[in-house]
Amino acid sequence: MVLFFLIFFLFLSLPNSSLSSFSFNSSKPLCHSHQSFALLPFINSFSVVEYSDPNCDVGEYSYYYYPLKNSWKMGIDCCGWNRVTCDTMIGHVIAVDLSCSQLQGPIHPNTTMFSLRHLQRLNLAYNYFNHSTISSKFGGFANLTHLNLSGYSVSSSSFTGNVPSEISHLSKLVSLDLSGNYDMRIKTPSLKRLIQNLTHLTELVLYEIDMSFVSTNCLTNLSSSLTSLRLTFCQLKGKFPDNIFHLPNLQILRVGYNYNLTGSLPNYNWSTPLKCLFLSETGFLINLPNLINNLKSLKQLTVSGCNFIGSSYPTFLSNLTQITYLGLSYGNIGGQCPWSLLNNTRLTYLDLSYNNFIGQLPKVMTNLTQIFSSNNSSNSQLVNKISSNVEYLILSGNLLNGTIPSCVYTIPSLLYLYLDHNQFTGHIGEFQHNSLVYLSVSFNNFSGNVESKIFSKLKSLQSLDMSNNPHLSLHSASATNILSKIHSLQLSSSNITEIPQFLRTAEYIGYLDLSNTHIKGNIPSWVMEVGKDSLYYFSVSRNNLTGHIPSLICNLNLDLRSNNLNGTIPTTFAKGYLSRNNLSERIPSLICNITSLNILDLSHNHLSNMVPLSLGNFSDSLTVLDLRSNKFNGTIPATFTKGNYLRSLNLNDNQLVGSLPRSLINCRRLEVLDLGNNKISGTFPHWLETIANPKTKFTFPNLRIIDLSHNDFHGLLPTKYFNHFKAMMSMNANNGKLKYMGESYYHDSVMVTMKGFYIELVKIPNLFTTIDFSNNSFKGEIPKSIGTLKSLKGLNFSHNNLIDHMPPSLGNLRNLEWLDISSNMLTGEIPRQLADITSLEVLNLSENCLVGMIPQGNQFNTFENVSYLGNLGLCGFPLTRTCDNVDGQQPSPSLSFHDDNFKFQEDDLKFKNGFNWKVVLLGYGCGFMFGLGLGYLVFSSEKGTRLVNIVYGERHNKV
Ligand SMILES: *[C@@H]1O[C@H](CO)[C@@H](O)[C@H](O)[C@H]1NC(C)=O
Ligand SMILES: *[C@@H]1O[C@H](CO)[C@@H](O)[C@H](O)[C@H]1NC(C)=O
Ligand SMILES: *[C@@H]1O[C@H](CO)[C@@H](O)[C@H](O)[C@H]1NC(C)=O
Ligand SMILES: *[C@@H]1O[C@H](CO)[C@@H](O)[C@H](O)[C@H]1NC(C)=O
Repeated sequence: MVLFFLIFFLFLSLPNSSLSSFSFNSSKPLCHSHQSFALLPFINSFSVVEYSDPNCDVGEYSYYYYPLKNSWKMGIDCCGWNRVTCDTMIGHVIAVDLSCSQLQGPIHPNTTMFSLRHLQRLNLAYNYFNHSTISSKFGGFANLTHLNLSGYSVSSSSFTGNVPSEISHLSKLVSLDLSGNYDMRIKTPSLKRLIQNLTHLTELVLYEIDMSFVSTNCLTNLSSSLTSLRLTFCQLKGKFPDNIFHLPNLQILRVGYNYNLTGSLPNYNWSTPLKCLFLSETGFLINLPNLINNLKSLKQLTVSGCNFIGSSYPTFLSNLTQITYLGLSYGNIGGQCPWSLLNNTRLTYLDLSYNNFIGQLPKVMTNLTQIFSSNNSSNSQLVNKISSNVEYLILSGNLLNGTIPSCVYTIPSLLYLYLDHNQFTGHIGEFQHNSLVYLSVSFNNFSGNVESKIFSKLKSLQSLDMSNNPHLSLHSASATNILSKIHSLQLSSSNITEIPQFLRTAEYIGYLDLSNTHIKGNIPSWVMEVGKDSLYYFSVSRNNLTGHIPSLICNLNLDLRSNNLNGTIPTTFAKGYLSRNNLSERIPSLICNITSLNILDLSHNHLSNMVPLSLGNFSDSLTVLDLRSNKFNGTIPATFTKGNYLRSLNLNDNQLVGSLPRSLINCRRLEVLDLGNNKISGTFPHWLETIANPKTKFTFPNLRIIDLSHNDFHGLLPTKYFNHFKAMMSMNANNGKLKYMGESYYHDSVMVTMKGFYIELVKIPNLFTTIDFSNNSFKGEIPKSIGTLKSLKGLNFSHNNLIDHMPPSLGNLRNLEWLDISSNMLTGEIPRQLADITSLEVLNLSENCLVGMIPQGNQFNTFENVSYLGNLGLCGFPLTRTCDNVDGQQPSPSLSFHDDNFKFQEDDLKFKNGFNWKVVLLGYGCGFMFGLGLGYLVFSSEKGTRLVNIVYGERHNKV
């Protein structure tokens, strides 16, 4: 029997030696039966899931466990159970390790486990405890020295709620790990007590726990026995206590990614044993040479993105003789790369990205496997000597030129190679890397015709990005089994002329971007088979494709924009971008049966007939419906269902008639309502008046862009409702960061009459809010309430029948950039308050009956006569008619800011870093157009979207 146990135990034994203290000699006391009765129901309260947490495959957890249920059995001494350890004298269960046991289910406060009062070590890490709260009963394990309740941070956490203050009763704790439970919070009182009472603590691991409520002061009293403090991603803010750097035993300090944590590093008396210091992405003030001078024996250091004091030259690196892991990105370091300084180190990981290094890349550094040096200004060629152990070679965004040196093609262990956003030229050679997973050569100047067989050795390649090499083409005639593992292929803006043949055998392809190349003709039928079970994104937009659209694969994000395709609209996609084609067939009514339809963009086609009645029925998923610039007639479907998800409804430039359907009020999530250039009639919106209490039931709280221009609306402006456009009122405080409507799901675009020009914004910054009611027959006065819409950028009420004075509250619109209320019957003076709008760039008050003195100062010094034409009673600058001496100057004919015969043009500007502008301008028919002033141009790149503010007054030649 004992022999059986021995074999059994060895077979399942753990690498974790701490748990192997269990002794097998025959005098070993047996498990007390109440302990078996405590353990069994506990483990039986969980189910066992098939999967195991990713954390369980790495590091100290690089072992897999069988479900323990099989080894935990009544009738067998519980001290012999797998991963249960007993006290050898008395037989008390003193350690239980259930980490990585694939357990699923809640831990109830009444669970029998809490009766194991003698426990000294308890490890429940990496299971699936369904967001249980940590019971205060954990505080009852009086002799506990090690507690690990680490969560799995991949999908959701194991534990949630507050860390109970009773944890502070565990005064013998040496190691506490609650990390990875990102739903969990710890607050100042609990932490304070915990730190006061746990005086033996050597390891405190709380990363990813929400500590935003914690006052960092209470960390001041941490136990002097502490060796490891790990608080990454804890939302800590405030000043980090200085004394922690002096703790006499501290070896590991990780507090990175607490963006609002500040502090400074001491100049002397550092904790001498410190080996690992991770401060990246915090507000620590850092003087790099000083820091490294103090900590010469550091093995791991990352300070990327901290606040560096001054700039420095990399000579200080020679002090780091022990370093293995070094992250210095955004470090404000300049000068020659310090390769020779690091030559004899054990460095394996080096991140120097976003500095100002010049010069060459490393020659032979035998240990270095991960090199990150993107966005420096190394404007030299790559040297033809790179360590053969390199796995990561990340050199994006430098000024590297010339051809790729031959050694790069042969680095045997290479996994990731990023050469994008450089100035490489010449041909691309044959890659010899068996293990390469990711290859990017995008945004360079490579040229020539690449034979696809140069990829034939890349058996492991999953992602290939050759996009934005305008002279690079790819020839793949009959090649198959090339890149057969490929998941993502990007060839956009290159010179390819066909859909690569090797895709026929690419059974894992998920992302395929062939946009803006030179592919023409019909879409071959085999394309429908490509990535049959895997493809989720397919773009051939901006090519010369003709013929019918094949009916493609389900659940696809399908982008066919800007081709010459015709035929039946497929009914199989979730996101369909079919704008700017030759589509003229009726929208198939089947389209309304696609339950997952999320985006439907059919704009700029020749679609006619009625908008299918049931289009409003997509209650479950449709967020964007864009039918602009077609020939739809009839009325707007009256079938918008309650609770629908529509965020953008664009029916601009059709021939729609009738009035707005009442069911539009069900579109509570609308951000864009664009109905301009139709023949829609009625008072606006006639159903508003019928809703009892607009305060509580306001229809469109998120609306940012409303365009009703060029219709037949009449009646008074909806006075009360301006008080409720919440989204237009709030000045978006996104921490200075602009977000875009539809950020993750749609490149929203909309035409706006911005500063007198029709402009199509490819994405709509959240800050971009406009009202355009021009060219209708609205009457009455301009409501005072308009002044509440503080984030408004553009307001156009021109060409209506508005009367009375301009409300002075217009002056509250401090973000307004263009204001057009021309061609109405406004009287009285121009409110002086308008001069307070310092952002105003375009003003058109022409063709009204305004009188008196034009406000002076600020922007009003920049407006010209045309802003005021046709107002015979106005005087003062810029008119020659002075206010005391009206000289009878004749107004010239009015200037219309609208021209229906606008011309379409597409503008691709290249930004100096190689980013691609994507702005479509619809220009006014004059020789050049104004720079967009403070307007926003949006461009997107691999590195995310950016917004560029064009300098005020800059003029940009029309292409
Ligand atoms: C513990 O409590 C849960 C929920 O309150 C209950 O379902 C369960 O039966 C209880 N278990 C025991 C052993 O009392
Ligand atoms: C805790 O440890 C002490 C000292 O080793 C011992 O006397 C006591 O019995 C233990 N308590 C429990 C509940 O195991
Ligand atoms: C400190 O620990 C002791 C027992 O170890 C406990 O009685 C006491 O309540 C704890 N203090 C706090 C503030 O939690
Ligand atoms: C940092 O602080 C600012 C201002 O207090 C806050 O808005 C922001 O959310 C904080 N950022 C993080 C990541 O905690």
